[in-house]
Amino acid sequence: MSELRIYQEASAARAEAAYTGYEDIRRALDKIGVGFERWEASKQLDTEASQDEVIEAYRDAIDRLMKAYGFKSVDVISLYASHPQKEAMRDKFLHEHTHDDFEVRFFVEGEGLFNIRKDGHVYAMRCAQGDLISVPANTTHWFDMGPNPNLKAIRLFTTPEGWVANFTGDNIADRFPRLEAPHYTAG
Ligand SMILES: [Fe+2]
Repeated sequence: MSELRIYQEASAARAEAAYTGYEDIRRALDKIGVGFERWEASKQLDTEASQDEVIEAYRDAIDRLMKAYGFKSVDVISLYASHPQKEAMRDKFLHEHTHDDFEVRFFVEGEGLFNIRKDGHVYAMRCAQGDLISVPANTTHWFDMGPNPNLKAIRLFTTPEGWVANFTGDNIADRFPRLEAPHYTAG
């Protein structure tokens, strides 16, 4: 289930607000410049769908974003609980960082938790199947795929180098709920 929780940066214990409705989430993220959309596939995909089949199913929406933002390339990543390096892969993006490029993810399957720090608040956006999130360049954030990742996502890039993570060195991510926290695993 998609859910946005908004915390004061200094107070991870309690969220100030929580939204699950699409329009509420979209409006709250729009205020901090983060794009949020929900896409429908043009045809049903099974778990074994190839990268080309996934891209083809969402071709119209991908083309629209590529034109609007000047993205040059697109790919599909898949990460599952059976991945031998799942812990290392999870850990890498659990530290606060920025990129020189947009970070755009469309969740074809599964889920992931984006935490965006902006204006003294942390926006914890749990993305689910059908959600597209677009985090602008130079925005501080971290990402949790959970201890047992279940994730198939389309990524859009303007440059291959743009998605290198610049770590801030701040340990803020350690203070905020992870994807396996009780209120996240409950639903
Ligand atoms: Fe990132």
